[in-house]
Amino acid sequence: MTIDELRERIKAKKAEATFAAQASLDSVSLEEARAKHWSRTEQQSFSKLLSTLPAADRREAGQLFNDLKKHVDGAFESSRQRWADGERTTASATQSLDLTMPARQRWIGAPHPVTVVIDEIVAIFRELGFTVALGPESESEWYNFGALNFPADHPAMDAHDTLYLGEGALLRTHTSPVQVRTLQRHAPPIRILAPGTVFRRDPFDASHAPAFAQLEGLAIDEGISFVDLKATLTLFARRFFGETTRTRFRPSFFPFTEPSAEMDVECQLCAGKGCSACKGSGWMEIMGSGMVHPSVLEAAGLDSERYTGWAFGMGPGRIAMLRYGIPDIRLLYDSDVRFLQQVAE
Ligand code: DAH
Repeated sequence: MTIDELRERIKAKKAEATFAAQASLDSVSLEEARAKHWSRTEQQSFSKLLSTLPAADRREAGQLFNDLKKHVDGAFESSRQRWADGERTTASATQSLDLTMPARQRWIGAPHPVTVVIDEIVAIFRELGFTVALGPESESEWYNFGALNFPADHPAMDAHDTLYLGEGALLRTHTSPVQVRTLQRHAPPIRILAPGTVFRRDPFDASHAPAFAQLEGLAIDEGISFVDLKATLTLFARRFFGETTRTRFRPSFFPFTEPSAEMDVECQLCAGKGCSACKGSGWMEIMGSGMVHPSVLEAAGLDSERYTGWAFGMGPGRIAMLRYGIPDIRLLYDSDVRFLQQVAE
């Protein structure tokens, strides 16, 4: 061995052992690296090499070896330090883990107040033999207006301005078209409820929304009269709002019913005494209703001499607001889960 060869070997060992120390993954692999690349035996064989050199080169060789040892020992020491710190941190985290702490609660959601109201109404009418029927939200002008006896350009349509989709299609302004669609497909006796979303060109303010829920009811058979309408809707109101709830019917107008009536229930917030919510009247309007107009039956292909029936339409959103005392309709469209959480509680 010459001093030149020794220089090369020391240089190579320095690079190899330093890399091995730095590349270790934890204190165990660090010790493995030391055993493989910088063992005591290996260090001893280096010192033995030194004594085989000519005396003149030994001094330089000694310095080179000391430098190698210092460098590689340093690399192993700093890696050892690094893993010791990291492992101490992990160990203390494990020790401070308190398994008796209550688990973080997972929020599992709650049905929307409007959904709650729709489900309850459906459950009450289901006991009376009603089933649920659905219709499209994108509807034709004929189903939305024509078949429901709205004469072309009738002022009643002013309250039903909507988005027109072209080619005679529009976003339905009420769930009443489902009456006609059902009558076309099924023969009486018919008893259906049709919940769904409807659309109006209304501003989005405290009491209006451009898209909202409606729930339609329809009963058609031979010999059905206004008595059935009053009895069924009164029964419904008592079941929904409470057995002692008073109700009243007021004459009204809809093109698709004759006669027509608005149904009021005693104000749920002041129990009929009169408050700001019911504008001092003690009553709250909950739905429109009436005997289905013969033209509607005929438009659906039914013999209006043989069949009669009644219908109603209500807004579950309004009813949810009355029941839960929600002051602003926009809250029903809020995605803040804290609002829904109150219903869940
Ligand atoms: N379709 C009416 C509206 O949206 C509500 C309505 C009133 C529906 C009377 C009916 C009814 O079935 O008989 O304003």
